Amino acid sequence: VGPGPLNGSMQTFLSEVQSDLAQGMLSPRVLNDPELHQAELEHIFNKCWVFVGHVSEIPNNGDYVLRYMGEDQFIMVRDEQGEIQLLLNSCMHRGSPVCRAEKGNSSHFRCPYHGWIYKNSGDWNGAPQRAKAYRKFDGADWGLRKAPQVDTYQGLIFACLDPDAVSLREYLGDMCWYLDVLLGLNEQGMTTVGDPHRWEVPSNWKSGADNFVGDAYHVIALHQSLEEIGVLGGDVAKGVGANFHVALDGGHGLIVTHMPMPEPLGYMGFPPEVHSTFDLKGLDENQRAFLDGDHGVVGFTIFPNLSFFRSFGATEPGKPPAVFTLLRQWQPKGPENFELWNWSLEWKSAPKEFNDAAYRAGVGSFGPSGIFEQDDTVAWAGGPPTGRSVFARKTMKFNYQMGMEGMGDYAIREDWMGPGTASTTPWGEMNQRRWWQQWSDRLMAQ
Ligand code: FES
Ligand code: FE
Repeated sequence: VGPGPLNGSMQTFLSEVQSDLAQGMLSPRVLNDPELHQAELEHIFNKCWVFVGHVSEIPNNGDYVLRYMGEDQFIMVRDEQGEIQLLLNSCMHRGSPVCRAEKGNSSHFRCPYHGWIYKNSGDWNGAPQRAKAYRKFDGADWGLRKAPQVDTYQGLIFACLDPDAVSLREYLGDMCWYLDVLLGLNEQGMTTVGDPHRWEVPSNWKSGADNFVGDAYHVIALHQSLEEIGVLGGDVAKGVGANFHVALDGGHGLIVTHMPMPEPLGYMGFPPEVHSTFDLKGLDENQRAFLDGDHGVVGFTIFPNLSFFRSFGATEPGKPPAVFTLLRQWQPKGPENFELWNWSLEWKSAPKEFNDAAYRAGVGSFGPSGIFEQDDTVAWAGGPPTGRSVFARKTMKFNYQMGMEGMGDYAIREDWMGPGTASTTPWGEMNQRRWWQQWSDRLMAQ
């Protein structure tokens, strides 16, 4: 499938996906199909606002890091005017990457192949033997290609490759309300700790997005060993039962918890030396009520491929668990593999001891050797082989019926103080169904 409208058989398949979803089912083909994958690169990763990093990663003019949107590599750089640019890392002469380092600081990028030079704004700036080789050349036409839209919200940087797409604020919609209570508790905000950890997972990127948008249910079974070895310090099913879902427009969704915190802990269990640094100035009345009501957000997915996780984690034996905050991104690498990127965040205002403990707790839970991570990625690896199986394609659909009418206790919470549709329990898959609905709507849009 090249650029352009989807072919007829793909349209037919996606129509089937939508009628299946209405009945709480999904074809395994979505987890391995090369044609669908190409369509995702075109209709999702070239159209949506995609997360590319945190402002604290490139604080100074000239700072850059390499990032991905879909499978394309970009240089995310703060140019000499202080503007954030997402420059396609492909030379306009023959396509060689003009930047070979993962991060650094530079006013210019010089292509190693023939030596064309670009400013960190992306503009063409010269070439070897210019007077002899390019006398009639208009450099203005030959700058690096760049994302037409870049914007930030609460320190998160997003870029969009579609010049006609809605603004970032509009794209995030009601998610802004939740990002305020997660990341905007004081003016200093949060900062990344080191570089994102990254590793390969033999699965489709959508398995990660699907899990973090609403799958609290899996924790009881897949992560049961954490209860057995005493890491979670309590009854896992009871802990998970304190969660519920909030579904937002646009395919975004959250897993929210309602867990009264023992004194003197504050919001989401932050100890006094941390929550005393929160001024809540940026929050409105409802957002403060959300925090005062002992609510917190455990996880979310912003469509398509950014997730978030904040929870308690063990630090060392005998020490209380610390609250950690992670950003996680599911970077597609073909239909059957993805790269998992994991950023640790810390409050700039918090004491170093707390931040160090939170970092250890986060990396010990999620990361290449994290005790949760080991469980999740093994389970997700089942997706592509199932999608590839001729027999599976002929005979099975995945079940997404939990929480549908009459299936269990799952219901819509009428008195929800925040935006979006909230549920009464975590025992449902509303958020996942809505994520996949958005996915199929995006692929079908012409
Ligand atoms: Fe970059 Fe030739 S490919 S200068
Ligand atoms: Fe998990």
